[in-house]
Amino acid sequence: MQAKRTVVIGFLGTQLDNGRGAARWEKWRPSVALTQHEDRIIDRFELLYAGEQFASLVRQVSQDIASVSPETRLVAHDLPISDAWDFEDVYGALYDFANSYAFDPDKEEYWIHITTGSHVAQICMFLMTEARYFPGRLVQTSPPKRQAAGNPGSYALIDLDLSRYDQIAQRFTREQAEGVAFLKSGIATRNAKFNSMIAEIERVAIKSKAPMLLMGPTGAGKSFLARRVYELKKSRHQIDGKFIDLNCATLHGDGAASTLFGHIKGSFTGAGADRPGLLRSAHKGLLFLDEIGELGRDEQAMLLKAIEEKRFFPVGADTEVQSDFQLIAGTNRDLGKEVAAGRFREDLYARINLWTYELPGLAQRPEDIEPNLDYLLAQYGAETGERVRFNKEARDRFMRFAASPSAAWKGNFRDLSAAVTRLATLSEAGRITDSVVDEEIRRLNRMWQHHDGRTGRPEVDLAELMGEQAAAQLDLFDALQLQAVIQVCRQSNSLSDAGRTLYAISREAKAKPNDADRLKKFLARFDLEWDSIR
Ligand SMILES: Nc1ncnc2c1ncn2[C@@H]1O[C@H](COP(=O)(O)OP(=O)(O)O)[C@@H](O)[C@H]1O
Ligand SMILES: [Mg+2]
Repeated sequence: MQAKRTVVIGFLGTQLDNGRGAARWEKWRPSVALTQHEDRIIDRFELLYAGEQFASLVRQVSQDIASVSPETRLVAHDLPISDAWDFEDVYGALYDFANSYAFDPDKEEYWIHITTGSHVAQICMFLMTEARYFPGRLVQTSPPKRQAAGNPGSYALIDLDLSRYDQIAQRFTREQAEGVAFLKSGIATRNAKFNSMIAEIERVAIKSKAPMLLMGPTGAGKSFLARRVYELKKSRHQIDGKFIDLNCATLHGDGAASTLFGHIKGSFTGAGADRPGLLRSAHKGLLFLDEIGELGRDEQAMLLKAIEEKRFFPVGADTEVQSDFQLIAGTNRDLGKEVAAGRFREDLYARINLWTYELPGLAQRPEDIEPNLDYLLAQYGAETGERVRFNKEARDRFMRFAASPSAAWKGNFRDLSAAVTRLATLSEAGRITDSVVDEEIRRLNRMWQHHDGRTGRPEVDLAELMGEQAAAQLDLFDALQLQAVIQVCRQSNSLSDAGRTLYAISREAKAKPNDADRLKKFLARFDLEWDSIR
């Protein structure tokens, strides 16, 4: 393999490279010296300067380089820079130079010389190199300890590709690992998909100010993660305002816009005083809008404007106010479907659907239940000062159930957290026993039968209909059947109507169908009747 050619790109040092007569050889001149090193031949030197007034110095430096290093081809470039201390001027000229220069990194190695030139020129060279407009390494030269003719001093190469530095790379890796662990509250989760998602969220949180969208079922940890992202950003000085948290499902009517955008006094009945609104409170901070799918269309439009322009009108105001906040939105709805159904604005969706993460429910990552269980137990211990542990058999029993397909975990972390609180509270002398676990399993199963996974609210709440105690006495078999029957009743116009649906097959065999009567008797077994279940 042929060695690459070495090409230096550097400014003429109007002071440092200057020198007259024979005495100039006594002086250390960085550009000339760089071509005098025994260990490296410079094949080409792209010497940058600015203005005709330096032409004679360029000529002299060229001649001197030619005499000490005949192998070096010197190419001088007069750049259109009128003020070497003007950042825009210098950067612009270098940018154009870099764009028109035929770099060939496969065959040539570029050394960007930063010892010469104004400080502004040095800064621009650095920036251009870091941004890879100059695909090379920085080179810094220094004079010999004792100046003597022919002693070129030394040079040092600085590679800005940080990944090449072991120590720094290790520090980055460690910091990233710390960030990831922070987002996970130190819980050693094992689900590979979840872990890689959190690792990406960490990178995005550190680097980006763009909106983030957290999707996932209730209790999957959206609100929790949003707050951790805020705290991570804060610890890295990415943000210094507040964390503002709002569940859009709690907004109604007039109050909705005013809660978000604020209002001025008297803008509507009840607007007694100016109100800043949450968007303004989130200035320079992070706004977490949970259940963003519940936001009204008008508020959606106002929010979009506020995100894009960082300005908006409070309710009733005729001048705009400013707020520069970062947004995380949460939803347990499929916003794509909401857009298709015309309930969510497409433009707002497009704006927030950039860093979108779907948080899996607990049942989708059963391997993580155990680490979370331990975390919650430790947390209980820290909060109450009471250390609680499972008996071995009890723990196995709970884990077998928790990770089995029959555990629905409809409320996800919320359910697990409630379960741990109950287990710990009911423990005896700090031990969670088999019977406490069995009772908890029954309780969870009962709860999940009655709850709609998406909303976490009861579909048919038997406890409400027949009383807590009576409902708790039912076998799962009866409870499931009763719930399904009540659902049909609630969708029907009359007892007979419901009966026809429920007994549609068997009634065909009867000469005189008595559906209404059969249904009435079924309900009566549970002390229920048509009017009370509707
Ligand atoms: N990664 C987690 N580690 C520990 N607790 C969590 C975690 N995620 C969520 N929780 C807890 O679970 C409950 C529900 O989480 P939350 O963020 O409110 O869910 P969501 O906003 O998705 O409905 C909260 O009490 C929260 O503290
Ligand atoms: Mg939430």
